Amino acid sequence: MLVVGPNGVGKTNLLEALHVATQGFSPRTRQDAQLIRTGETAARVVVEGERGRSPIEISLTLRHGQAKEARLNGARLPSAESLRREVSTLVFTPDRLAVVKGAPAARRAYFDRALGRLFPARAAVPQDYLATLAQRNAALRRVQFGNSDTAALAPWTERIAELAAELVSWRRATLERLTPSFKERAGELGLPEARLGYDAEPPTVADLERRLSRDIERGTTGLGPHLDDVLIASGDRDLRQYGSQGEQRLAVLSLLLAEAELLPTPPLLLLDDVLSELDLGRRRILAARVATMGQTVITATHASALPVEPAQLVEIEPGLAESRSTT
Ligand SMILES: Nc1ncnc2c1ncn2[C@@H]1O[C@H](COP(=O)(O)OP(=O)(O)OP(=O)(O)O)[C@@H](O)[C@H]1O
Ligand SMILES: [Mg+2]
Repeated sequence: MLVVGPNGVGKTNLLEALHVATQGFSPRTRQDAQLIRTGETAARVVVEGERGRSPIEISLTLRHGQAKEARLNGARLPSAESLRREVSTLVFTPDRLAVVKGAPAARRAYFDRALGRLFPARAAVPQDYLATLAQRNAALRRVQFGNSDTAALAPWTERIAELAAELVSWRRATLERLTPSFKERAGELGLPEARLGYDAEPPTVADLERRLSRDIERGTTGLGPHLDDVLIASGDRDLRQYGSQGEQRLAVLSLLLAEAELLPTPPLLLLDDVLSELDLGRRRILAARVATMGQTVITATHASALPVEPAQLVEIEPGLAESRSTT
């Protein structure tokens, strides 16, 4: 589906609404208040569609100062975030370039979410590690302030070593799963020899004990997968530092396409402003590729940006989205 309209008319808003409705959160901001129209007290998005072959209806309601309310086929879900376990939506926005050029934290967050989608049974591994890390850090500060003795840290150190090993091995499994398709999709879009890498080893109990006095002094754990990074490279070139804007864009897009073809149920793909900076050849390849995938929504200012006829064309005017079926 191609969504077209002039700048500022609400194309990104529409994509954001689809993401909020299907995943429970915005890809742009964690401040839900921003999602409610200025001057209004509440917002609601309702989407109907199919998951696999069964019909599905999701509604998400936001009210100022209240928890979000998500309903799946009428039944209230325990939290809006639990939508993520029900349906997958992958989004490209120009902000997503941060996955390649941003700080390591952006990559960790991105690949940990991919881990959860590719290995749903392990989706909690990153959170478990971080929650335990927070507890170990609190214990370190208790020792720092003399409210507890060093021996009390041993169980936390052991637990962190265990969970770190688990997290690193699932992160590696995630990268291994993604790499072949990532390389293929990137190669086809003109980014040769694309690869992902994870160099760090999880710390052992002995490693953690060795830096215990420093950790106590700082009140935080200075070693472990919460500090690791994922390499994104094309041949010998590290795209994190040396990629051009266009190459970084291709890398993010290839990651998305790679994951989309690996997920058991084709995800909803939301591609915002992806066409504007791609040359015609790459736009053609991208259009051909997404045509083989699940449902894809692409935005552009003009219909001519997409070199093929979309299955559906939605024209946005202020306050109105009008759909024209083209097939
Ligand atoms: N909470 C809000 N309440 C009211 N208006 C808002 C709110 N959040 C954003 N807007 C406005 O919605 C308008 C539409 O923005 P949007 O980013 O969707 O446009 P767009 O069609 O994607 O434009 P572009 O082609 O420039 O990317 C903007 O003018 C923006 O300021
Ligand atoms: Mg926009």
